[in-house]
Amino acid sequence: MMMRRQFMYPALVVLMAMGLATGGCKSPANSGSSQSSGNDIIVGEYGSLTGPQATFGKSTDNAIQLATDELNANGGIDGRKVKVVTQDDMSQASNAALAVQNLIDQQHAIAILGEVASSCSQAGGRVCQSKGIPMISPSSTNPAVTAIGDDIFRVCFIDPFQAAVVARFAHDSLGATRVAVFTNTDQDYSTGFSKNFIEAFTKMGGTIVIQKSYGGQDTDFRGSLTAIAQSKPQAILIPGYYQDVASIAKQARALGITCPLLGGDGWDSPDLVKIGGTALNGCYFSDHLAIDDPSPAVAKFVASYKAKYGQTPDSLAALGYDSANLLFAAMKSAKSLSSSDIRDAVAATKNFPGITGNITINAQRNADKPAVIIKIVNGQFTKYMAISNPDVPLQQKGS
Ligand code: PHE
Repeated sequence: MMMRRQFMYPALVVLMAMGLATGGCKSPANSGSSQSSGNDIIVGEYGSLTGPQATFGKSTDNAIQLATDELNANGGIDGRKVKVVTQDDMSQASNAALAVQNLIDQQHAIAILGEVASSCSQAGGRVCQSKGIPMISPSSTNPAVTAIGDDIFRVCFIDPFQAAVVARFAHDSLGATRVAVFTNTDQDYSTGFSKNFIEAFTKMGGTIVIQKSYGGQDTDFRGSLTAIAQSKPQAILIPGYYQDVASIAKQARALGITCPLLGGDGWDSPDLVKIGGTALNGCYFSDHLAIDDPSPAVAKFVASYKAKYGQTPDSLAALGYDSANLLFAAMKSAKSLSSSDIRDAVAATKNFPGITGNITINAQRNADKPAVIIKIVNGQFTKYMAISNPDVPLQQKGS
């Protein structure tokens, strides 16, 4: 039988969480005991189901639900079903903290899945850590997320790696020595990625010809783009999320900028090309996997996801699926379903067969995995190459 999920209205979440806001110390009520509603095991999920990062939240949520349905159809955890309670944070870090408070205090979630955007994961992660509840972020890549503390995990690589991959690609494969950087200073993901890229690219001998920044509410980027054009870069790094990037790309092309634009996983959304159209052709970004990967595990996931949702999953969905399944496996192997035993089991994960690769949780509670470079060709995301060690020069040149 399929489990129905419970969705919370954002306004209700905010009110409930505000009335119940707790202090920053570890709550003994939640840290050592298992909590559930009826006989179901409650897992909380928070995500950007609406707002500027909505496709991230929806893809992740779809995949977490798919994993949960599959688990429950196969007997759940020791015969108990898992119920995922999902809350929308509307793509805002302040709401993310309230959503997580509510999931723990009101819904009695014993573990939390989320978020995608690193700023939201940091806000939610601080709440989880203060309450001793394990959290797994499917896809937040800023190092600060898991640095919050021993309850916070992720199943993806981190930005110092990802940004170095893009630097290696730009330097060796594109042959670029002059790159401009355009950063969203309202997103930790974007500022961290830019910093990591600049470090890696300059170490390879490249030059950053100009650095410009924008804010999350900005829609007119032409002033900065004009200055960027004057600095004559061979490529422009824009480590933002898809909505900003699509608008920036369109305005850049309208100003006559023809060089490739480069980015990271934050570009991965069907809306990137829907909004940006042909402006993105010939551009590249790093990502967690190519969904056209021929491996049987990826193909099976893609088929099940398509059958349930009528669309092709993106890498957010793949990571959401892996985060849920890794949590469920840890719950099965944990000494008990107390949050601290679940945390210990997640921390002990080795070689978990995810569809985004084998996942070992390292000492920093991150996962080391290769990245892929995606090229946008005629509006399609196509796998261009995989890079597992950005410290090693690439053989392949040009394109
Ligand atoms: N890595 C991004 C962040 O940390 C989120 C993201 C992951 C976006 C994967 C798209 C795909 O904010």
